[in-house]
Amino acid sequence: MDVLHLAASLARHSDSADHYTRLYLTSAHRAAAKELQSWMVESGLRVRVDSVGNVIGRYDGATRDAKTLLLGSHFDSVRNGGKYDGVLGILVPMACVAELHRRGERLPCAIEVAAFADEEGARFATGFLSSRAMIGDFDRTWLDRRDADGVSMREAMRDAELDPEAAGSDPLNRKALAGYLELHIEQGPVLLDAGLALGVVTTISGGNRHSVVVIGEAGHAGTVPMQRRHDALTAASEMVLAIERRCGVTVEGSRLVGTVGILKVVDGSSNVIPGRIEFSLDIRAGDDATRIAAEDDIFAELEAIAKRRGVRVEMKRHSESTVIRCADRMQDLVAASIAAVGLEPLRLPSGAGHDAMMFARICDVGMMFVRCGAGGVSHNPAETVTAEDVDLARRAVLEFMRRFGTVVPA
Ligand code: GLV
Ligand code: MN
Ligand code: MN
Repeated sequence: MDVLHLAASLARHSDSADHYTRLYLTSAHRAAAKELQSWMVESGLRVRVDSVGNVIGRYDGATRDAKTLLLGSHFDSVRNGGKYDGVLGILVPMACVAELHRRGERLPCAIEVAAFADEEGARFATGFLSSRAMIGDFDRTWLDRRDADGVSMREAMRDAELDPEAAGSDPLNRKALAGYLELHIEQGPVLLDAGLALGVVTTISGGNRHSVVVIGEAGHAGTVPMQRRHDALTAASEMVLAIERRCGVTVEGSRLVGTVGILKVVDGSSNVIPGRIEFSLDIRAGDDATRIAAEDDIFAELEAIAKRRGVRVEMKRHSESTVIRCADRMQDLVAASIAAVGLEPLRLPSGAGHDAMMFARICDVGMMFVRCGAGGVSHNPAETVTAEDVDLARRAVLEFMRRFGTVVPA
């Protein structure tokens, strides 16, 4: 089972003809889910699709009462993203199971491989929808959210032959869960700079996502004197720079970052002074106190800018996740598995968010990173990995499955 070949094949299921974008429950997303199902079956997994469209394959353990090690990641993407983000964490464990299956080898724990339908949240401004559904924390207000074309999640679920009334009604069986492991491309340059193929994740930064609306006064571009304008875009521009300045305050080790990734001039025309701006705000840090302090300061600064410019600003937080720490026993096992394939197990934090953050609420989680090529760029079509690194990841994850099986608590 050639993981890179499968990743290339899966990337054909894209919402766009000229780049890779796969948003939750689009027709490309549904086609990708079908393809994943058939590959899972070929790999020896018994497959089910849950109420929100997660594809979950099971490979039974040696005994009927064996606990489960869950491995997974997501198959939705950001717009114009990279084809390994998420997908590697599905295909690599699947390839490991294919090998166990080929050898007729059963482990002391059952293995489940999950392909999460929505992690990025790029269509409905959700975050970790899939993993939240799996831990029993599906937010039913999401069903009324609408995408950029005005389609609600409820409608999108019906189109995908999912019952929105049942969404989130089938969380996994926590009692049977012994741990969660996520393999992911690093999405940064640390392993590349260290000359190492694999790494052990220690912590994952916490993050908040907000939407911000700036309401000024639309007016005629040719007649309103500059001094009498309440231009929502110039106010928003000042706000974006204030966010950059505040998040650029370096506190040793805090990894504070702030990003405005979407900015829209609502009903914009070249001859109209912008009356309404909507923008997104993503703030993250490696410690919660730093993130919360930055958020408070930014909100105060945005209010001050709005007041000075005679516009209004409304801010709404969509999601919040706190910093999580990978369990020591999982970190040690990831490190031992990396060492077993002959590599030095470098430990590093994750600035990106992952489904592992949600599972950390209910069980021990671990993460293994794979080196990201092209300078460590991700959320970008230039994102890349090498076949050699992916093969090392496959061997290390298989090693992890076997080792985990021997230490799983009764
Ligand atoms: C997921 O890619 C995230 O960190 O936003
Ligand atoms: Mn991503
Ligand atoms: Mn990802």
